[in-house]
Amino acid sequence: MPPEQPASPSSHLFPGSGLDAAVVPTFTAEPGMMPATVLPEHELAPELAHQLVHDELMLDGNARLNLATFVTTWMEPHAAALMAQTADKNMIDKDEYPRTAELERRCSRMLADLWHAPDPLTAPGCSTAGSSEACMLAGLAFKRRWSARVGPSSGRRPNIVMGADVQVCWDKFANYFEVEPRVVPMRGDRFHLDAEQALARVDEDTIGVVAVLGSTFDGSYEPVADICAALDDLAAGGGPDVPVHVDGASGAMVAPFLDEELVWDFRLPRVASINTSGHKYGLVYPGLGWVAWRDTAALPEDLIYRVNYLGDELATFTLNFSRPGAHVAAQYYQFLRLGRDGYTRVQQHCRDVATRLATQLGALGPFRLLTRGDELPVFAATLDPAITHYSVFDVSAGLREHGWQVPAYTFPAERTDLAVLRFVIRNGFTHSLADQLLADLRRVLARLDRQHGPLHDASDSSFSHTGAPSPR
Ligand SMILES: Cc1ncc(COP(=O)(O)O)c(C=O)c1O
Repeated sequence: MPPEQPASPSSHLFPGSGLDAAVVPTFTAEPGMMPATVLPEHELAPELAHQLVHDELMLDGNARLNLATFVTTWMEPHAAALMAQTADKNMIDKDEYPRTAELERRCSRMLADLWHAPDPLTAPGCSTAGSSEACMLAGLAFKRRWSARVGPSSGRRPNIVMGADVQVCWDKFANYFEVEPRVVPMRGDRFHLDAEQALARVDEDTIGVVAVLGSTFDGSYEPVADICAALDDLAAGGGPDVPVHVDGASGAMVAPFLDEELVWDFRLPRVASINTSGHKYGLVYPGLGWVAWRDTAALPEDLIYRVNYLGDELATFTLNFSRPGAHVAAQYYQFLRLGRDGYTRVQQHCRDVATRLATQLGALGPFRLLTRGDELPVFAATLDPAITHYSVFDVSAGLREHGWQVPAYTFPAERTDLAVLRFVIRNGFTHSLADQLLADLRRVLARLDRQHGPLHDASDSSFSHTGAPSPR
């Protein structure tokens, strides 16, 4: 028999103090424990349910001190309010929520324009759950174009060429959609794809090359224009004509504002598609990605589903069905609110904080910078080989004691000897927070200097979130 419910559970609440021990046993068989395995038998008052869930989540890390994630951890209250007001909208119900569908269309066009599509009004594009879904869609378009070229029963095996620094979503794409991944390993001080290495792996069955702007591992931009030029030469010489996808999960919302002279987007005719995460430097809370194709020829018609939209036909191309509309509303809010000037200001601030912090970290002595935060506002640093009495994993653990989450990890195959710390600077991380981080880092280093050998290694690293380099 489950224990009895109190007459009015909310009357047991002590505001702000968490649980009342007298209340908890009323809904779980184990006194004092939150339900964890079996659906509770009875109802709770909303205030109590809210307090219990809220209190449980207090033990999560502090998002503002999290330098591991690329994902937005702060939005203005107006944006947060807008998201709460639109939480009930389902993106897929275009007929029911035509204005939300219209906002998606506007954002898509603005992105196609930002990325210099030849005709932003007709360039296909859509919102997604994140960059992972966007990359899958772009990869699928590549695969379908290849199979239309070679014929469905050719018996040939498609392949996709990419650097070892790609995010795990590209491994997933290759695995789930049965495409051979041709991964260019890191070697020496080359930590990402270059034109020569890409070209060496391309053949008649290459569905496309993925270039990353920028790398999840160290924030560096891959040389998209060089890769495209090499593929142009290959095609001009009678070789295969291979399209390029730019995975701009972070960089496609940074480079247009801070690196206008860098040509990496649809200005390069070989770039067939581009993705970005609305929830990274697009500045929206988690749950939003975007993908755009340069023109209708780049997205095979037979992948597109048409839905009725106010008597009109609306093209959709997604892997999942229902999805929140609130994120699209928030993206449109950010586009209106910030405009080009605002995005430039925010991204420049992130880059300023990143480059200043990188310089100061480099000056501390024990670290060697791999990157300086001057491409993505992200940088990676390793320890000087002379430092043998502690590891980057010790530094990461030490910073954690001060509340900071700075991931430490080893690089992938052929550079697994290289262990680094990575710092991702996002909107909301200020110079003053950077100074506090540095002060805590100095304290940690002073303690670690008294150590006789490393205490933590890669096996202690629990770093494996969305933006994390994954074991390959
Ligand atoms: C380059 C790159 N591509 C794809 C992804 C996956 O993005 P999402 O978390 O939006 O699915 C990430 C995430 O960090 C990334 O950095």
